[in-house]
Amino acid sequence: MARCQLKAMALLAGILICMGVATQAAQAALHRISVQRAPNFKRTHKNIVAERDFVQQKYRLNTANGYPVEPLSNYDNFQYYGNISIGTPAQYFLVQFDTGSSNLWVPASNCSSTACLDHQTYNLSQSSTFAANGTPFSITYGTGSVSGFLAADNVGFAGLTVQGQTFGAVTTEQGTNFVDAYFDGILGMGFPALAADGVTPTFQNLVSQGLVQSPVFSFFLRDNGSTVNYGGELILGGSDPSLYVGGLTYTNVIQAEYWKFQTDYIKIGSTIVSTYDAAIADTGTSLIIAPLAEYTLIAALFNANSDGLFQCTSLSSVPDLVIVINAVEFRIPAKYYIIQEGDYCALSIQSINQDFWIMGDVFLGRFYTEFDVGNQRLGFAPVNSADSLRGTALWKILVVVLPCGMWKLMN
Ligand SMILES: *[C@@H]1O[C@H](CO)[C@@H](O)[C@H](O)[C@H]1NC(C)=O
Ligand SMILES: *[C@@H]1O[C@H](CO)[C@@H](O)[C@H](O)[C@H]1NC(C)=O
Ligand SMILES: *[C@@H]1O[C@H](CO)[C@@H](O)[C@H](O)[C@H]1NC(C)=O
Ligand SMILES: *[C@@H]1O[C@H](CO)[C@@H](O)[C@H](O)[C@H]1NC(C)=O
Repeated sequence: MARCQLKAMALLAGILICMGVATQAAQAALHRISVQRAPNFKRTHKNIVAERDFVQQKYRLNTANGYPVEPLSNYDNFQYYGNISIGTPAQYFLVQFDTGSSNLWVPASNCSSTACLDHQTYNLSQSSTFAANGTPFSITYGTGSVSGFLAADNVGFAGLTVQGQTFGAVTTEQGTNFVDAYFDGILGMGFPALAADGVTPTFQNLVSQGLVQSPVFSFFLRDNGSTVNYGGELILGGSDPSLYVGGLTYTNVIQAEYWKFQTDYIKIGSTIVSTYDAAIADTGTSLIIAPLAEYTLIAALFNANSDGLFQCTSLSSVPDLVIVINAVEFRIPAKYYIIQEGDYCALSIQSINQDFWIMGDVFLGRFYTEFDVGNQRLGFAPVNSADSLRGTALWKILVVVLPCGMWKLMN
C-alpha cells in the first residue's frame, strides 16, 4: 500500500512535470491581449434592431443593393475591444478587433468631429517614430464615412510591436455615430484583399516581421462574462487548447476577403433553414445575421415580426440552433440566440439581405475560433466554460489513480 502510494506519487510528479513543461513551452510562444467588454452591455430588443442597422451599413460597402438605412442611437452592441499603443512614446487607444474589416484607424488630434472629441486621438508630432504618408484615407458606411490621411508608426499590443504600420488617422467622422462607442478606433483582422487603399493589415505585418511563431490568431470571447476586464482573449501565434473542449473542426476559407466559409446546413429543431450557405466569422458583429429568405423562414417558425419580436412564455422547450460545419454540429441553446424581456422574446438573429450568414458573438461566444491565416482556414470548438478548472482536469487525476489501482490488482 505504502509502496503503491509512493510509486503513484512519483508517477504523479513525473506526469505533472512533463505536462507542465510541455504546456509552458507551447504557451510561451503565444501572445495574448485581454479583450474588454462594454461595461453596461446587455442584449435588448432595442439594441438588436440598432445593431442590425449598423451591420447593414458595414456590409453595404460591398454590395450593389441600396438598403434603406436609419441612424443609430444605441452603441451598446459594440461589445469587445482591447488596448493598443501607437507611436513613441506610446499613445494608447481602445480598438475593436474586427475580423470583418481589414484597416486600422484611430482619430487624429486635429479632428474636430464630435466623435473625435470624446475619444483618444493620435498626435503625430508627439511621436518620434511617426512616418508621413499623406494618402487620403476613407471608409464609407451607409450613413456617412470616416476619412483622413494615412500615416505610419509603431503599433503595440499583446507585448509585441509592429514597426511602421500604416493606418488611417481620421480627421472627419461624418454621420457615423461612433460618438458613443466605447472604443476609439478599429483594428481590422480580415484579409488584405478587403483593405482600403491596399494597406497591409496589422496581423500580416506581425507575421512578416517575425513576431509570431505561426500565422494564426484566435479569439476566446465570453458571451455573458461577469467581468468587464476579462471579456475574453485574443491570442496571437496559435491557439490555447485549455480554452476549448475537444479538437478544432477546421474548414477552409472560400474567399479570402472576409473570413468566409461554407456551412453544410443550419437547422432549428427538425426544420432545416439553409443548406450549403456561406458564412463569415465576424468578431465586430454581436448578432447572427441570416440571408433574407432564411431569416423569413426562422421568423415564421417563431411567429416573429420583421424585427424578430414575438410573444413567448419560456425558452426551456425551444430547440437549439444547430450549425453544421464539416459534418460537425455546433449547437447554440435557445437562451443564447433568443433574449426574453417579460412576455416578449427577441431573436438575436436578424437579416440584412446578404447572401451569406454573418456569425457574430452569438456564435463566436459559444465557439472558440482559430483564424489560420497561413492555411486560409478556420477552426471551431466549443468554449471551455469551466476554464477555471484549468490545470486540474479530471483526467490528470485519473491518470494517477488508475496506475495505483492496477498496481494493487497485480500485487
Ligand atoms: C492602456 O494601457 C496603458 C498601459 O498599460 C494604460 O496606461 C492605459 O490606462 C490603458 N488604457 C485604457 C483605456 O485602459
Ligand atoms: C500635438 O502636439 C503638439 C506638440 O506637443 C502640440 O503643440 C499640438 O497642439 C498638438 N496638436 C493637437 C491638435 O492637439
Ligand atoms: C490634420 O493634420 C494632417 C497632417 O498634418 C493634415 O494633412 C490635415 O490636413 C489636417 N486636417 C485637418 C482637418 O486639420
Ligand atoms: C447572462 O447573465 C445574466 C445575469 O447574470 C443572466 O440572467 C442570464 O441568464 C445570462 N444569460 C445567459 C445566456 O447565460
